[in-house]
Amino acid sequence: IPVEPFDLVIFGGTGDLARRKILPGLFRRFLAGQMTPDSRIIGAARADLDAQGYRDMIRQGIAEFGGPESTDGDGLAQFLARLDYVSIDATGEAGWQQLSGLMRPGVIRAFYFSVAPALFGALAERLHQHGIADPDSRIVVEKPFGRDLDSARALNHTLAEHFREGQIYRIDHYLGKETVQNLMAVRFGNILFEPLWNHHYVDHIQITVAETVGVEGRGGYYDKSGAMRDMVQNHLMQLLCLIAMEPPSLFEAGAVRDEKLKVIRALKPIAAHHIVRGQYDSNGDGPSYREEADNPRSFTESFIALRAEIANWRWAGVPFYLRTGKKLRARHSEIAVVFKDLPHSIFEGDEKRHRNILSIRLQPNEGIDLQVTIKEPGPGGMRLIDRPLDMTFATALGEEAAEAPDAYERLIMDVIRGNQTLFMRGDEVEAAWAWTDPIIAGWERRNDVPKLYDPGTSGPDDSLMLLHREGRRWREIR
Ligand code: BG6
Repeated sequence: IPVEPFDLVIFGGTGDLARRKILPGLFRRFLAGQMTPDSRIIGAARADLDAQGYRDMIRQGIAEFGGPESTDGDGLAQFLARLDYVSIDATGEAGWQQLSGLMRPGVIRAFYFSVAPALFGALAERLHQHGIADPDSRIVVEKPFGRDLDSARALNHTLAEHFREGQIYRIDHYLGKETVQNLMAVRFGNILFEPLWNHHYVDHIQITVAETVGVEGRGGYYDKSGAMRDMVQNHLMQLLCLIAMEPPSLFEAGAVRDEKLKVIRALKPIAAHHIVRGQYDSNGDGPSYREEADNPRSFTESFIALRAEIANWRWAGVPFYLRTGKKLRARHSEIAVVFKDLPHSIFEGDEKRHRNILSIRLQPNEGIDLQVTIKEPGPGGMRLIDRPLDMTFATALGEEAAEAPDAYERLIMDVIRGNQTLFMRGDEVEAAWAWTDPIIAGWERRNDVPKLYDPGTSGPDDSLMLLHREGRRWREIR
């Protein structure tokens, strides 16, 4: 379904995110007919370019990052014709009059702040000063949304001076992923799971987001963040919220975000021995983290594993094990709900522990499988084995699965539709920092040194111990 016509201004329009994700994504929505030809995208940045120069830059970006569609020459020419450019000074006066002159009345106005958070205030102020923002305009901001509670509060405060919460779209691209939304469809679209979704039946939950890439060119940013700020405070906590929240009364922004907030606020503080930090070493093939980050004394973690608990009736006593890291064995993200053992086995001689496990594979190989126990075929009597009831979306849904928009595309279309369900509200972000701040402060106080791990593994051995000592095991990263 096409969205209403819009003028989307991308501040930082020549940056990496714009060239890699935002514009190739918008191009795909254009080809799909969702962005109609009466919409426009205006790049705004410091670079001294004209509209044609900008189109050439974006043409290259799409060729490099746009996927198979980038060969659609006609489509590309029509899309590029929808692009404009203003050379602008975020903190000065240059360019603002020109931008103001470009905005059309009667279409939706959206402003993507793809710039350093330090500039948010200046941009918001100038948009108002020059009468460019109207009461229905939307602004889109990216992570990192602050680096602790105080800075996130200050950012929220700055934005609130010029925009209502209903106009602010804080992106966490994990919420735009197809399978992450499927998580909600599975939970709330089936009668089967919800009755079991609590401490009576669930032994524990594992959330893994494993990457094979290192920090590469982003060492400057990453070394000041680490896995906790870069991944846990946002992406992993959002996944945790979706899996743990109470059923909202409606799949709607207010109801969903209220429930997520309750989960974050119910998280218990974490004891130091429930967290493992790791940093990848060099195994001879590639550089170590410290070499890549160009900081030989860095104590920043590129891996983290932790055991969280939610203090409420539903989840009392159920561990939530979270882990994420770079340079691991495989790119593999999944959420696994591990159900409890049977109270009693009627099969004599069957000593093995059989467990139902619902696993939601976020990427790659998106799908869902449920481990069930069945009889081993053959004449050997009642011997039991565990096998997955497997639904791989690419097989089950064929082309439909392949055509699903990627996270950025979907989220930008949601901005135009005015749907905030898959965006983080200011209070959620603050609550997440309020939980992670004391953990990070503890490391800094103790000068905590992360454990080294070899690239291509599952992270440091201590991470395995986190579960072993409680009689549990991580699922394999493969
Ligand atoms: C980003 C982090 O938010 O998410 C990166 O800053 C990380 O460090 C990336 O690599 C992972 O996203 P995806 O979509 O590739 O899983």
